[in-house]
Amino acid sequence: MSDIIRLDRFISECGGSSRKQAVKIIKSGRVKVDGDTVTEPGLKISSDVKVTLDGHALKYSKYSYYMLNKPQGCVSAVKDHISDTVIEYLKGVNARGLFPVGRLDKDTEGLLIITNDGELCHALTSPKRHVSKTYYVLTDKRLPRGARAKMEEGLDIGDESPCLPAQLKSKGAVEDEYAYELTIKEGRFHQVKRMFLVFGCKVTYLKRISEGGIRIDKKLKPGEFRSLTQGELNTLKEE
Ligand code: URA
Repeated sequence: MSDIIRLDRFISECGGSSRKQAVKIIKSGRVKVDGDTVTEPGLKISSDVKVTLDGHALKYSKYSYYMLNKPQGCVSAVKDHISDTVIEYLKGVNARGLFPVGRLDKDTEGLLIITNDGELCHALTSPKRHVSKTYYVLTDKRLPRGARAKMEEGLDIGDESPCLPAQLKSKGAVEDEYAYELTIKEGRFHQVKRMFLVFGCKVTYLKRISEGGIRIDKKLKPGEFRSLTQGELNTLKEE
C-alpha cells in the first residue's frame, strides 16, 4: 500500500540524510518526480511515484535498518539524561522513530541493530525465538576444566531457570588475559558476565560479534555505522 508523504521526508528517508539536508537537496533542483524537476520540499507525493536524485531512482521504504559498532560509554536507549545514547551515533540520519534492537551494557562494544521496524525487533528479541548472539570475551582468569560442559548443558546463574545451552570456544591467551567466543540464545541481564562469574572469572572486555546470523562489519570502527544490506536483512528475517 502506498503512503502520502512530503517530498523532503521521502528524500531524507530514502537517501539517509537529515530533513534539513533533504530540503537543501530539493531546493538545488537535483530531484525529479515522475520526470519533472521539483524544488518544493513540502510537496505531498504518493510513496509509489518515481523519484530520482541526480538521475538515480530512489525506492521508498518506511523502515530503516542500520548496524552500529556500539562503542563503550553509551547506553542502548533512545533518550538518556546522563549518558550518550546509541542513537546519537547515527550522524546525518533522520533518527525519528529509530530504536536499538535489544540492549548491550554501557561498557559492551559491537553489533547493535537499530531500526524503526517493531516487528523485526520483536522477532529478534522475543525470549521464545532463541536467536543466537555471539560475543568475544576477555577474562582475567582462565575458565576451569568442566566450564564448557556446564555452559553447554545449561548453566545455573541464579535465575529461576538455568540458561539455555550455550557454545563456548577458547581463543587462547591475549597478553595476560584469556579470550573466548560464547554463543547464547537468550538476552538475560548481564548474561555473559554472570556466566563467567559462576567460575570466578571477571569479564574485562565484551564485544558482540554476531546476532541472528549476521556479523559485525570489520570495517566499522567503534562508533561507526552503516545501513544493513538487503542480504543481511533477509538473513535476519529468516531467523
Ligand atoms: N551479556 C552481558 O553481560 N552484557 C552485554 O552487554 C551483553 C550480554
